[in-house]
Amino acid sequence: MNVLVTGGAGYIGSHAALRLREDGHAVTVVDDLSRGNAGAIAALERIEAAEPFHFVRADLGDRDRMTAVLRERGVEVVMHFGAWTYVGESVEQPLRYFRNNTASALALIEAMDAAGVGRLIFSSTCATYGEPPPEEIPIAETCRQTPINPYGRSKLFVEGMLRDYAQAKGRDFAFAALRYFNVAGSDRHGRIGEDHDPETHLIPICLQAALGQRPDVTIFGTDYPTPDGTCVRDYVHVEDLVDAHVAVMEALRGGETRVYNVGIGRGYSVREVIDACHAVTGVPFRVRTGARRPGDPPTLYADPARIRDELRWQASYDDLAAIVETAWRWMKTHPAGYADRARLAR
Ligand code: UFG
Repeated sequence: MNVLVTGGAGYIGSHAALRLREDGHAVTVVDDLSRGNAGAIAALERIEAAEPFHFVRADLGDRDRMTAVLRERGVEVVMHFGAWTYVGESVEQPLRYFRNNTASALALIEAMDAAGVGRLIFSSTCATYGEPPPEEIPIAETCRQTPINPYGRSKLFVEGMLRDYAQAKGRDFAFAALRYFNVAGSDRHGRIGEDHDPETHLIPICLQAALGQRPDVTIFGTDYPTPDGTCVRDYVHVEDLVDAHVAVMEALRGGETRVYNVGIGRGYSVREVIDACHAVTGVPFRVRTGARRPGDPPTLYADPARIRDELRWQASYDDLAAIVETAWRWMKTHPAGYADRARLAR
């Protein structure tokens, strides 16, 4: 297939682009590098593959430019990863999230419409569910979507736009929305990894502490209604998540709309994650307890029955330590993230 990957310089998008290249697809990455890493593009360019790879530095919200890219590259399917993903930032700067996540997606869909590209796989999030009641956990796709922050809302609006557009287009358009839980880990061969600035995610924060880049890790809240008082999340390996994208891309037929939760179906507490990071790294980094982080629901984990039954998708990493090991491999060899690659390339 001829695939356009938006946000392909970002964490998840770069892993998707890598896998697509290895599977023999022609890949075009569009990224404005406002949050993505040029080093990820350099790593993708180094992959030897029969089909071409193109990188276009462009703003997804530029409808005319995107229409031209889709036409010139003969794109058949779009995987849309490009977005901003900090919940806290979305509360402080909601308009930027509606601009970068919602308005950009609208421009992209308009460009696809103009260029006659009829298939889209959209990165949605479990943040669209907000704070589900205990009886709705594990979370199925039918759970009510009531986001509690602008980030979740910015993604939910896109799901709505896609549904209405798909209805109007009939067999000429198909989309899948994948609602991700907590994505973690890195390419098993250590070629690309996770490099956010600032880093807010629990596993890379623990690994930075293990590297001595942070004095300690703070647990945000120990009084949640969970077995050990800390928040429980569903950690899915980035390669398994990419696998879900490939599976749905292959299954998607004209006129279909599909929605899947992508998680492994079990939750780990913050303390369990920290224990796994201590064990994998062998470094007893310091841990402190602190106040709750606003907007954190106590427990979120997926019921992945639908994606398992319909796409035969199954997470190959079902063990937290194995997930952490892949992240640790990359971080150990790239303690300054992609900045190391830039230095190595010079
Ligand atoms: N946590 C800490 N200390 C830290 C960092 C995180 O205790 O230094 C805790 C958080 O409070 C949370 C858990 O670790 O309970 C996981 O936090 P992350 O920031 O790693 O992930 P989130 O669950 O907050 O966020 C993820 C995605 C978001 C998405 C959100 C949906 O990364 O993009 O799930 O709830 F919006």
